[in-house]
Amino acid sequence: MHIGVPAETRANETRVAATPETVKKYVSQGHRVTVQAGAGTAASFTDEAYVAVGAEITDAATAFAADLVLKVQSPSVSELPFMKRGAVLVGMLDPFNAANAAQLAEAGLTAFSLEAAPRTTRAQSLDVLSSQANIAGYKAVLVAASVYPRFMPMLMTAAGTVKAARVLVLGAGVAGLQAIATARRLGAVIEASDVRPAVKEQIESLGAKFLDVPYETQEEREAAEGVGGYARPMPPSWLARQSALVHERARQADIVISTALIPGRDAPTLLPAQTVEAMKPGSVVVDLAAGRGPVADQATGRRGGNCPLTVADEVVTKHGVTIVGYTNLAAMVAADASSLYARNLLDFLKLIVTKEGTLNIDLADDIVAATLLARDGAVTRKA
Ligand code: NAI
Repeated sequence: MHIGVPAETRANETRVAATPETVKKYVSQGHRVTVQAGAGTAASFTDEAYVAVGAEITDAATAFAADLVLKVQSPSVSELPFMKRGAVLVGMLDPFNAANAAQLAEAGLTAFSLEAAPRTTRAQSLDVLSSQANIAGYKAVLVAASVYPRFMPMLMTAAGTVKAARVLVLGAGVAGLQAIATARRLGAVIEASDVRPAVKEQIESLGAKFLDVPYETQEEREAAEGVGGYARPMPPSWLARQSALVHERARQADIVISTALIPGRDAPTLLPAQTVEAMKPGSVVVDLAAGRGPVADQATGRRGGNCPLTVADEVVTKHGVTIVGYTNLAAMVAADASSLYARNLLDFLKLIVTKEGTLNIDLADDIVAATLLARDGAVTRKA
């Protein structure tokens, strides 16, 4: 089979969907692999490294004209015409974006969106949300440390003592837990909040304090259990109590890392403007939900994140607080993010390509069925 690896063209995208390590495996399985010239450059993988493992370096049109195209993000409208009808596309295709799914269907592609894989043990090795969120959580802390005008660890020096930074992590999923672990390594004192009760132990085992907002009704308890490992929107009663606690803790914090997401919905607002206003001057917010929150500015349609003051892909200062809104933190660790992502794809392809190298799309497989976004001209997954 011809496997194509085009370069990513979206803004701030530095990752690549196949690395010399995974290309070597595809070639040894008998596939022809074409990599667009320079596709791996931003992730530190040279064209020579791909050639050394048996790939051909080509132009974009040839890489897109493959039977199976591996991408990080969805191709743009101007790239889709390069692809063959009936070709297979695998990537992070933004499964809740109905307009994009319709375009892929219209192009006649068989498209798999790996963000839609179930959170099961069998799917772990191809779980792109985990592999990339883990990196984003790590990088969020490093970005925070670099704009924070103080030290993270407690220091006792001849010139006096420096207090450890207080870090508040909102949302303790994959990114939040990695943020806790990373901030802890830098010597910060950490508190964390999440709706799901299951995370309490995980937070504490990483050495952070869990901010408990007890459930008062059966409705609150059931919402908190979530669905498929994910959070659901919480009832307003619980959110109001959480908000009061977060407001109080944010006032004491030096750094807030917010990561709260609800699949297919606007990210919840956890740091309203009045909370930012109450924070200490010089403190830092890194909002991983940037651009995914509710519309924060009706005039421009700008979306915030967990904080409405967040501006996607920008660093802004409001009320003396630096708010970082980078939307693609994983891409800022391009080499490792690509390596892990490329291995996720390698594992996914084992489910749809036989040992003989032919395509076999088995919808009885729950991972294949869940990730299939479009086929035979139709969108197959409900947004
Ligand atoms: P996510 O990126 O969708 O959300 C991040 C976090 O925000 C979640 O922990 C969520 O509970 C939290 N959140 C949502 N609304 C909130 C609110 N109002 N206040 C505070 N926190 C809020 O989630 P992610 O990181 O993708 O993981 C979701 C779950 O799936 C986790 O339990 C994770 O451990 C589990 N998981 C299971 C896997 C497996 O079994 N193979 C693989 C990966 C994750």
